[in-house]
Amino acid sequence: MGMLIKGGEIVTAESRMRGDIFIEDETVSAIGSGLTVPKGTEVIDAAGKLIFPGFIDPHVHIHLPFMATFAKDTHAAASKAAIVGGTTTFIEMCCPSRKDDALEGYHAWKQKAEGNNACDYAFHMAVTRYDAQTEAQLKEIVRDGTTSFKIFLSYKNFFGVDDEEMFQTLKLAAKLGVITTAHCENAELVGQLQQQLLAEGKTGAEWHEPSRPEAVEAEGTTRFATFVEQTGATGYVVHLSCAPALRAAVEAKVRGVNLHIESVLPHFLLDKSYAERAGVEGMKHIMSPPLRDKRNLPVLWNALKTGLIETVGTDHCPFDKEQKLLGAKAFTQIPNGIPGIEDRVNLMYTYGVKYGGLDIHRFVDALSTRAAKLFGLYPRKGTIAVGSDADLVVYDTKYRGTISAATQLGINDYNGFEGFAIEGRPSVVTVRGKVQARDGVFVGEQGRGRMIRREPQL
Ligand code: URP
Ligand code: ZN
Ligand code: ZN
Repeated sequence: MGMLIKGGEIVTAESRMRGDIFIEDETVSAIGSGLTVPKGTEVIDAAGKLIFPGFIDPHVHIHLPFMATFAKDTHAAASKAAIVGGTTTFIEMCCPSRKDDALEGYHAWKQKAEGNNACDYAFHMAVTRYDAQTEAQLKEIVRDGTTSFKIFLSYKNFFGVDDEEMFQTLKLAAKLGVITTAHCENAELVGQLQQQLLAEGKTGAEWHEPSRPEAVEAEGTTRFATFVEQTGATGYVVHLSCAPALRAAVEAKVRGVNLHIESVLPHFLLDKSYAERAGVEGMKHIMSPPLRDKRNLPVLWNALKTGLIETVGTDHCPFDKEQKLLGAKAFTQIPNGIPGIEDRVNLMYTYGVKYGGLDIHRFVDALSTRAAKLFGLYPRKGTIAVGSDADLVVYDTKYRGTISAATQLGINDYNGFEGFAIEGRPSVVTVRGKVQARDGVFVGEQGRGRMIRREPQL
């Protein structure tokens, strides 16, 4: 039996029109006004609502062994939280550590996800070591449909690669037609500054940002861009946080480097004063690159509006309060990460589209379409078109609410955006034609999500 979403305002990255969407099986089969549909078709009344393509989060961590612990999440919980918040596909960072075998890690991540996700998903494969096996292993992973890599210039001796390994990875990525995403901070400087601060007795969370200053991120960004340029690869800077790093990336873009820029939810809405709060309150807001001085926020918003920052992810990476307290004696031990998968769409709609002058089509582009295009999901995902997956978000702009850990679906015991007002929320969310959420409640099928296999983009 088909489904008709009737009378909504259909908003994509390019267009806006009032109309009906007819879904058969898992895909959109017709778009128009006053569509005639078979008897027995389920009808969802979308009058007065917006209809967006399902949102895509290109940067999440769910299973993550990191900093002497594991991210506090499961695929079941994270995917349900994603869906009620309008995200119908996410791309998880598959991050075996430097001492682990890459292929074993890849299969372990896939196994964790399979059958447990309520929404669709894909992986970025982290390359955390480059040795004699790496090329063959990565080719196998690409053949399996994982066509994006991730490297860390930071986290030395754990996830981090050195310059030689970065060069090899990018060369192979260029040959395979694979995009390489990168965490850009200078590992050596971070390590030295951390030791210096601790030796001076500066152990609290407020010293996390000074241990990884803006210049350290700008250097990482410049170096990554230079390696992308010299290898002919395609690069994607993840979670860019500050004006100097933005300048470095834009400088590379204007000289023709094939470089794309992502920033993430916390960097648009939170500044370093959150991490400077006393005790665990500050620790809740530790991530890397760190929350920055507030003068950076309007710069990031302007770059998003103009499209210099192309995508907005979350870097969803939950650790609970007990885990954060592992760093009570030294900020270097605070597990890095802030969750956000549930809240990205509503917060960016409220503070971007509603109050920040962000064009609604740019909003759809940055939170869905552009990631679909960059990561080989388009036009199956990232738009509303005949033949596309019926991943749809019927959005209620009249909803009023407040972000709170007390009401979230995510399993973490805090929310980094506690108390933020939201003006808008998904009213109905479909994943390949099946209603998975209604008005903040997960009503769907837990195991519906599928791994989306992608082709290289040569
Ligand atoms: O602090 C962060 N960002 N945690 C997750 C790991 C990473 O660097 O993306
Ligand atoms: Zn990172
Ligand atoms: Zn991350």
